[in-house]
Amino acid sequence: MSDDIDRMIATLGAALRQRPDYPFHLIGLAEMVAAEKHRRRAVKLAREAMALGRDDPATVMRGRRLLASMLPGYHVPMMNDARRNRAWDAALRRAIRPGMLVFEIGTGAGMLALMAARAGAAKVVTCETNPVAAELARALAARNGYADRIEVITGPSQKVTIGTDLERPADLLFCDIFADGLLGFDPLSAIGDVRARLLAPGAPVVPRAASLCVGLAAWEDHDRSGKIDAACGFDLSPLADFVDVALLRPIDTPGLDLLSDGETLFRFDFSEASFPASERCAVACRALKAGHVDTIARWIRLELDAETTLEARPEPGALFFSSPTLTPLAAPIPVSVGDEMRVGGWHDRHKILTWIDPGAC
Ligand SMILES: C[S@@+](CC[C@H](N)C(=O)[O-])C[C@H]1O[C@@H](n2cnc3c(N)ncnc32)[C@H](O)[C@@H]1O
Repeated sequence: MSDDIDRMIATLGAALRQRPDYPFHLIGLAEMVAAEKHRRRAVKLAREAMALGRDDPATVMRGRRLLASMLPGYHVPMMNDARRNRAWDAALRRAIRPGMLVFEIGTGAGMLALMAARAGAAKVVTCETNPVAAELARALAARNGYADRIEVITGPSQKVTIGTDLERPADLLFCDIFADGLLGFDPLSAIGDVRARLLAPGAPVVPRAASLCVGLAAWEDHDRSGKIDAACGFDLSPLADFVDVALLRPIDTPGLDLLSDGETLFRFDFSEASFPASERCAVACRALKAGHVDTIARWIRLELDAETTLEARPEPGALFFSSPTLTPLAAPIPVSVGDEMRVGGWHDRHKILTWIDPGAC
């Protein structure tokens, strides 16, 4: 397969070289190679084409569009998130002692690995399933003078082994593999596996815990996006059950008003060896404002250590990159200050559901 792609690149590359607009067409070849899932080769071709065609804006834009498609869009806002960076930097500085061998799950483009190396780790071994991100993490380590102390393995943490990738069990694990909805990257299995196989006994984990918080909300867009019954004189009620029960929205979604405090629905303590395969529970949310609850908002909280917590509570003007998930209710429920409603929840380590518990107070 690899030989086939090399042959295709050589043959098409030679044919394209005859054309006056060679760099622009070379990006087309890079797009084909990317479509065949040879993303690292595609990046190399795109970079070559962009260097050759640097004076042609069409080539540069086509190249950038391809490169951007290979890295999930959250990386840029995440790495620019000053609040998140400060919190992680401080927590890693507190946790890492000189000489430590530390392990990370999911380095992305390598931001936290750079922090860990700067905090004094003798060696940072990290891994990343996305080969383009892994390559970028290596490039950023080299660019910042840490090539000799950061080792990036391309592949999932589940494939990392002692003896081949790690010379001995690591002294500390850190990771931010908590997608907006908390469980999207399967962090419970990944952390449990690394704790069991790759960590020294008693080695700390940063974050020490991750939680899912819920709150009662009124959402201006509920009528347009959170329900469907009738429009333009037609009965659309058969569509009602097709409205998603987990809508991802930006943290500063306009018109989303939290009417209660956030309560912890699930908390995962990473000093524990394992987590239940599924859990169901309910928490009471007390209204702090009068209004009409039409939505349950949920968001993540990371306890990096005893001193630092990062919480993605949705609020106007919030800058944290992580997004809340909204569960729209079928109909608004009026609340007065002090009223309590119970929010129920279930997870199976992969997905989370929330609802208003029928035993509402
Ligand atoms: C939210 S990003 C965070 C990236 C980086 N740690 C940071 O904080 O800047 C999570 C990354 O972890 C990777 N990832 C998730 N689970 C993984 C696993 N089990 N093994 C390797 N990579 C993983 C994803 O591909 C993604 O790039």
